[in-house]
Amino acid sequence: MDIKLTRNENPAPLTPEDALGFGRVFSDHMLLWDWSAERGWHDLRIVPFAPLTLHPASTVLHYGAEIFEGLKAYRREDGGVQLFRPIENIRRLNRSAERMCLPELDENELLEALLAFVRLEERWVPKSFGTSLYLRPFLFGNDEQLGVHAVHNATFVLIASPSGSYYKEGINPVGIMIESEDVRAVRGGTGYAKCGGNYAASTRAGERAAKAGYSQVLWLDGVERKYIEEVGAMNVMFRIGDEIVTPALTGSILPGITRKSCIEVLRAEGYTVNERLLSVDELIAALESGELKEAWGCGTAAVVSPIGRFAYGDRVYTVSDGGIGEVTKQLYDTLTGIQWGKLPDPDGWVLKL
Ligand code: PLP
Ligand code: COI
Repeated sequence: MDIKLTRNENPAPLTPEDALGFGRVFSDHMLLWDWSAERGWHDLRIVPFAPLTLHPASTVLHYGAEIFEGLKAYRREDGGVQLFRPIENIRRLNRSAERMCLPELDENELLEALLAFVRLEERWVPKSFGTSLYLRPFLFGNDEQLGVHAVHNATFVLIASPSGSYYKEGINPVGIMIESEDVRAVRGGTGYAKCGGNYAASTRAGERAAKAGYSQVLWLDGVERKYIEEVGAMNVMFRIGDEIVTPALTGSILPGITRKSCIEVLRAEGYTVNERLLSVDELIAALESGELKEAWGCGTAAVVSPIGRFAYGDRVYTVSDGGIGEVTKQLYDTLTGIQWGKLPDPDGWVLKL
């Protein structure tokens, strides 16, 4: 596979690792790949990081034909770099593409392109534990006309952002507001796809939560407003008595790769994990009775993030003592241990560069 490289002649200085934040600093290059119905995928190239030029009628600007992924390159203690389950992101990108009538990519070719790009940008992978090079592949429809139909032209882009913690709280517990007005997704809609529109539609509730002092919202199902779905940028898990519960993937929830990994780690360690419907009434009852021992969110950007309190209506409930739960901490240590190469990788999740 041929990747045409135009080097950035003015590489930027690296940002100090304690000043990274999330998604604000970008590496020197970006990868571009064009698609047209006539030619298929063509012109795979890496060029200096720069603004994109779009036709004002470009499909993405009007009808939101856009999907994306998020994965990280991690620096091991021996100085090497590795990715975590990248094939899962590639497969999810293709499932999102199918939903949004965007062109799918060849899994092996995309993986090869991803690896070539990360190798080129290696110096941007930060070294401190907890930091990483966040990779953001995205794909959008780019027809230069206003008709609404499956696109004939699309562009795939990969950018990279050295990042620290997603939440300002770091590993400290976050507060989450249960949202009962807006809904994020419904079955048959686009909830399982990672498309930009899902996030645009989520922003209003997210802003309301932020104003009230909460990090994100917890979404309820779009039909009955009864069942718990997920948080703005992460899936959720609860330890209720001896059971670990996470909402079942009903079509309106993003099938998180961290979620899948948490379930696999927990089951291997002997925990009972049930993917099932969990109503907000059951959650509130468990909060009130003290049966809810722990709650956490999990996602690539957020890693494993303890939830210390939930707001629902005009009430605020503290989860246990509001601190970091035992299983949450264990899960955080195991996952981050595998991701940053401090622990063995029994299931072959890690791909070394
Ligand atoms: N749910 C939403 C809405 C997300 O944006 C994310 C982040 O990607 C997740 C869940 C977690 O998915 P993953 O673990 O694959 O990053
Ligand atoms: C990720 O965890 O990769 C995400 O996509 C979250 C993002 C919306 C910030």
